[in-house]
Amino acid sequence: MDARQGEQSHEDCSPRPFPQTFASAAGIAAEPPSLQNKDSTFNTVVSRSHPCAIQPTRSARIKREVPFKPGDLVLAELWRKQTLEFRKMFSLTATGKALSNWGMVLHRDIVGKFPGQIFKTSTNFKLLMRRPSLEEYAMLMKRGPNITYPKDVNTLLMVMDINEGDYVLECGSGSGGMTLFLSRAVGSEGRVLSLEVRDDHHCRALKNYQRWCAAWAVAHEEEWPQNVEFIKKDITAVAEDMKAVTFDAVALDMINPQVALPVMHPLLKQGGVCAVYLANMTQIIDLLEGIRRCQLSLLCERVFEVMHRDWIVAPALRKDGSIVQRVEPQHNRSEESPDQRRRLMDDEMPFGTMPYIARPRHGLSSHTGFLVKLRKIKPAHPEPTSDNGC
Ligand SMILES: C[S@@+](CC[C@H](N)C(=O)[O-])C[C@H]1O[C@@H](n2cnc3c(N)ncnc32)[C@H](O)[C@@H]1O
Repeated sequence: MDARQGEQSHEDCSPRPFPQTFASAAGIAAEPPSLQNKDSTFNTVVSRSHPCAIQPTRSARIKREVPFKPGDLVLAELWRKQTLEFRKMFSLTATGKALSNWGMVLHRDIVGKFPGQIFKTSTNFKLLMRRPSLEEYAMLMKRGPNITYPKDVNTLLMVMDINEGDYVLECGSGSGGMTLFLSRAVGSEGRVLSLEVRDDHHCRALKNYQRWCAAWAVAHEEEWPQNVEFIKKDITAVAEDMKAVTFDAVALDMINPQVALPVMHPLLKQGGVCAVYLANMTQIIDLLEGIRRCQLSLLCERVFEVMHRDWIVAPALRKDGSIVQRVEPQHNRSEESPDQRRRLMDDEMPFGTMPYIARPRHGLSSHTGFLVKLRKIKPAHPEPTSDNGC
């Protein structure tokens, strides 16, 4: 059965039923998410005058600050001289202790305070306590395999052109890093099917997802969308099960993505993007060789990297706190010709007032992974023969 059965045409504005799960569509067992989406942000009504206009009954959702509560995720940071010296993420309880080399803070002293507050430890160090962002959570959560780095995930989402309501296939789940970002991007109307061959990685990804969802519910007093199905299966073994499913995009972060190509290709909508994340250029060569050997109609549009470089921008101070002065050189005007002197006088600007360009040259810095953008296209007629062993 088609996982998208039940969708309406663009003209039909009646409420859309919650989509059937991929797993049930595919006839395979999915891990049920532990939390259910009980409430939605807006109650919607259909206007009589404009039957297709869906209007929120409230003009805007009321956002309010929520103080720390047991069950919250807390990020403790020690900043000194614009430098992060220590960072730790922990789950807040009613009776626990936040322990570190910098001293201890009782959890009960944190409960009830608002995030963004500085707490003094038992040894008089100042720790900033706040809730972690999704990027910070992904970087600090317990890992099985390495995650897709958040800086790269955001670009992958852009390349795949993921929108709310999209259906995305992911392989493999790994530690669940990319899954969390996909889940946020597709929202409560979308779905993510996340495949993982290893039992330990499948469990790790699910636990990381559930921990984030539980903390989100505490911090935001609403549920994170339950839109991910974690399935413990080799992608090469799901082809038959998923014949009827169509995805808007596919994200592959696995050691040999070329083995997934013949399976994912029929599942990806025509014109859709399969984004691949790989650490080594040799893997990209194998990927492209896989496309060639299987004669898949995938256009490799881009192979690229995402680079971030952090800068220090701060007043220049000496150790004693005094300000470092900019020093003007002395030059001897008497040795200049009258012409030179006039030009200097005319053009003269006081030392330190000339605007300069000051930016890094384009160059390489630390490498996380290569991003490959493959687009499914319709081949021109006549189609190639598939005499290639695939
Ligand atoms: C680098 S990890 C993925 C990390 C993930 N993107 C994250 O952000 O946490 C690669 C995962 O792909 C899984 N994998 C490799 N080949 C697979 C296959 N044929 N089917 C399903 N999963 C596979 C591995 O077991 C591993 O957990």
